[in-house]
Amino acid sequence: MKIRPRRNRKSAAIRAMVGETSLSVNDFIYPLFLIEGRKLKEEVSSMPGIFRYSLDFLLEEIQSCLELGIKGFCVFPSLGEDKKDKFATEGYNPDSLYNQALKQIKIQFPDIALMTDIAMDPYSSDGHDGIVENGQILNDETLEILGKMALAQAEAGADILGPSDMMDGRVGYIRKVLDDAGHINVSIMSYTAKYASGFYGPFRDALDSAPKFGDKKTYQMNPANSNEALIEAELDISEGADMIMVKPALAYLDIIKLLKDNYNVPITAYNVSGEYAMIKAASKNGWIDENQTILETSIAFKRAGASFIASYFAKDVIKLIS
Ligand code: PBG
Repeated sequence: MKIRPRRNRKSAAIRAMVGETSLSVNDFIYPLFLIEGRKLKEEVSSMPGIFRYSLDFLLEEIQSCLELGIKGFCVFPSLGEDKKDKFATEGYNPDSLYNQALKQIKIQFPDIALMTDIAMDPYSSDGHDGIVENGQILNDETLEILGKMALAQAEAGADILGPSDMMDGRVGYIRKVLDDAGHINVSIMSYTAKYASGFYGPFRDALDSAPKFGDKKTYQMNPANSNEALIEAELDISEGADMIMVKPALAYLDIIKLLKDNYNVPITAYNVSGEYAMIKAASKNGWIDENQTILETSIAFKRAGASFIASYFAKDVIKLIS
């Protein structure tokens, strides 16, 4: 035997030297859940270790993440039913909990990369990402609302807007609204290949944003498809997306690789709530090792071609690698 691949695995030092991919604190975006009120920190029951924070505590949480070196944050609002309506009006109210929080966050932490979520679902009384009429999700009418949300978030100081709704034409629509208003430097990270997934369950618990009827299959993608991811990426990039996303991440590593092989824009892997919950639940039962599996899944996203990872495990991974 002339060739023995095990020679390159014989010690920790050699394994580290021949490692093809690595994780760094710069790779992570940490998602945060915002609620109304003061001095509130409520654990999401299906996501142990993840909390919904009132703004005062959310600011403290960002400070502690900064001390670990995390610079990217994505904030999601959780609203009471009284703030929701058919047209997600609160989504573009400049004085909303969300837009006011974005403003405060940027005042206190001007150097972070603050990313937002643009979609109607946290504000929609129907729990959908688009306007609902006779059981249908309207596309072009929804774009106007998304455009208003984008503008309000840009005005609040967001650095990167994250359209997560999967309406057709949204990236181009939002880019035009931003440019017309002079926000030429506000970035768009599009949720490009977002699949209709069972792995979003805990997130919908956290935001109380589950659809009130039906599912999201007329706008989110079919897990059976990958050619369609190329069509979505082509459109988003041509419409002006600065960064694209694949979501969920674990069951879609082939999609990350496919987009990486075909496009040159940075790709984010969104390691979603259900993926977090699975590892938490199994490791709590002693069935898998949490530290080992979170490092393994995180490196897998990088190996597949992701530039960044949006992950609820961000703090844990960074503590393990530093
Ligand atoms: C909604 C949105 C969802 C997530 C991010 N933005 C859920 C959904 O489409 O229902 C999921 C994130 C996660 O599961 O961690 N526009």
